[in-house]
Amino acid sequence: MREKALKEIESANSLEKVEEARVKYLGRSGEVSGFLRTIKDLPVEERKTVGPEANALRKELEEKIAEKKESFSGSGKKTFDATKPGKRTGRGHLHPLTIVDRDVRRIFSSLNFSVVEGPEMETEYYNFDALNIPGDHPARDMWDTLWVKGSGESRHLMRTHTSPMQIRYMESHKAPFQIIVPGRTFRYEATDASHEINFYQVEGLMVGPDVTLANFKFIVEEFFGKFFRKDIEFRFRPSYFPFVEPGVEVDIRFGDGKWLEVMGAGMVHRNVFKSVKYDPEEVQGFAFGMGLDRLAMIKYGIPDIRMFYSGDVRFVDQF
Ligand code: DAH
Repeated sequence: MREKALKEIESANSLEKVEEARVKYLGRSGEVSGFLRTIKDLPVEERKTVGPEANALRKELEEKIAEKKESFSGSGKKTFDATKPGKRTGRGHLHPLTIVDRDVRRIFSSLNFSVVEGPEMETEYYNFDALNIPGDHPARDMWDTLWVKGSGESRHLMRTHTSPMQIRYMESHKAPFQIIVPGRTFRYEATDASHEINFYQVEGLMVGPDVTLANFKFIVEEFFGKFFRKDIEFRFRPSYFPFVEPGVEVDIRFGDGKWLEVMGAGMVHRNVFKSVKYDPEEVQGFAFGMGLDRLAMIKYGIPDIRMFYSGDVRFVDQF
């Protein structure tokens, strides 16, 4: 009976079949139950050996049945339901500033600009002096500088703009060329919706024998069109930066008619050329610097620059 019962339980291929076997052997009128009831009629001696054996058999079958049932039921941890919908694993994605950074690199590359990068910690010379901003010049106040302790001949600082790379690049390259310099910049600044102590800029520089502001206008127009994927109305407004002459600021026009400043630019100042030993009678060119965060805010309608750096997933997960 034991072998027969075990075989039946083992080969049951559904919950119903196991239940059938249970009823057949352990049910009220099952074979094992029936046998157990006859034990009391046996002689005392036989009862002593048969009784425990029969009880052990009942226990064994109960356990096997429970085990088998568990293998079918949903509560069993061992079960695998191939028909259940899968669990989705969250997929990573790019930060909005990274998206914009990649767009900018791609667009300028397509306009034949080289993409170069420079150090985030600079010397006072590259960040200021070589860009025609001497130590006593009031224009230094335009950049709230984070100075770095412990310096040698030239003091160190966290670069306040990407413009120092203009100097580094021209020191080691001959004109003509056209580059952009995307990168992180730092300011000693009280933060608010449009100011952060760290943000991103893209510097641009194009130098050759006859590069003019008209060339700059074309490049800007191309860039805006590709970046915003539509024709953008923009304007040049006279402005002052020590490393350009003339200097301009570029504003773009919004749906609501408002003008928004997105970059500073101008024709490279002859003193800048002199600091890199270029002859200002031989070459000329334009330079520009725009805020990547600004571009991202405009493109995605982000009201506060601090959101980029908050690490709040409710914000970044929207991109
Ligand atoms: N470096 C300037 C800033 O951070 C922006 C800028 C203005 C860059 C004019 C330029 C330029 O290259 O020509 O405020």
